[in-house]
Amino acid sequence: MQATQLNTTATVVETREIAKGIRLLRFAIAGDPISVEAGAHVTFALPHDGQLIHRSYSVVDDGQGPDMLTVAVKLEPASKGGSAAMWRLSVGDQIQLTGNDNSMPVSYGAQTYVVVAGGIGITPMTGVARTLRKTGKSVTMHYCARAPEEAAFVDLMQDLLGDDLTLHYASAGATLDTKALVAALDRATILYMCGPMGLTEAIKSAWAEHGLPPQNLRYETFGNSGTRPTRPFTVHVEESDRTVEVGEGQTLLDALLESGHQVLSDCRKGECGLCKVVVHAADAEIDHRDVFLSDRERAAADCLCSCVSRLPGGHMSIRIDGIPHGRSD
Ligand code: FES
Repeated sequence: MQATQLNTTATVVETREIAKGIRLLRFAIAGDPISVEAGAHVTFALPHDGQLIHRSYSVVDDGQGPDMLTVAVKLEPASKGGSAAMWRLSVGDQIQLTGNDNSMPVSYGAQTYVVVAGGIGITPMTGVARTLRKTGKSVTMHYCARAPEEAAFVDLMQDLLGDDLTLHYASAGATLDTKALVAALDRATILYMCGPMGLTEAIKSAWAEHGLPPQNLRYETFGNSGTRPTRPFTVHVEESDRTVEVGEGQTLLDALLESGHQVLSDCRKGECGLCKVVVHAADAEIDHRDVFLSDRERAAADCLCSCVSRLPGGHMSIRIDGIPHGRSD
C-alpha cells in the first residue's frame, strides 16, 4: 500500500481502558470513509504543548464498518507526547487524521500462516488474522502478554480463531518457545509478527537458524522504550552548525524537522533506516531502539535511527547528509 495523505476529521465516540495500560479509542469518520488495509496504521495530529505532533497507531479490525476507526493505545509511562495525548481524548473530541500507511501488507500466496503478537502488538494482527481467515487460509495465532489483565482483544481473537489461538502469559510461566515454534514450520509458511524487540529478535534469529526464506517472515515492531532512561539531550548538527534540544517527549527526528533541518523518514518505527544520521561524537552511550541497524553498526556507535534512538541525556554531534541508508550487512 502506498502511503496516503489524509485530511480527515474523526470524532471520538468511545474510549475505555480494555486492559491494564491499554485504551481503546473508537472514532466516527466525517465525510468519505477511509480505506484501511489489514495491518495498516493511521497518523493522528495530536495537540501537545501548544503545537501539533504526528503519531501513528495501528488500526484494530473489530468488525466495524468503514465509517468507524478503532485503535488501541498503550500508555507509555514516560510519555509526554503521543500516548498521553491519545489517552486524554474524550467522547466528542475531534481530531485530524493526516495519513495512513501499511509497512506489512498481507499477501495471499501461501496456504498456511502463523501470526505472532506480543503485548500491544496485537492491534495490527487483528486485521491480518481476520483478513486471512476470511480468504479461507489456515491461520494460527500466538499471543504473548505479561499477564491476562495486560492482554487486549482476547475475546475478539477467540471468537475469530477458536482453538487456533494460543495464549502465552509470562505470569503463568507459559512464555512462547520461539525456537520450537519456528522449527516446526515448513518453508512455505508465512509468519506475521508484531511485538517488542526481544520477541522480534528471538523469532528473527530462529528463522535464520532454520534457513527459512527471509521473505516469508513479515514483521513490525512497536515503540521500544529502550534500555536507558528517556531524558532530554542536545545535538550539534554539523551542516547547520546549530545545536538542537531534544525534549523528553520528542524524538530526535521530530526535533530536527521542527528546527528546520531536512531528514528523510518513512516508518518512524526504527524499521526502514531512512532517518539514519551519522554520529561523530557522543558523551553518553547511544540507546539504540531500532531493529534496522546491524550489530556491527551498533557496536561502532557511529550512526543511529533518529526516529526512535536517542541519548540518555548529554550531548552529541551528528551529520545528516551523505549517509548510505541501506543495510550495511
Ligand atoms: S523512519 Fe524508518 S527507521 Fe526511522
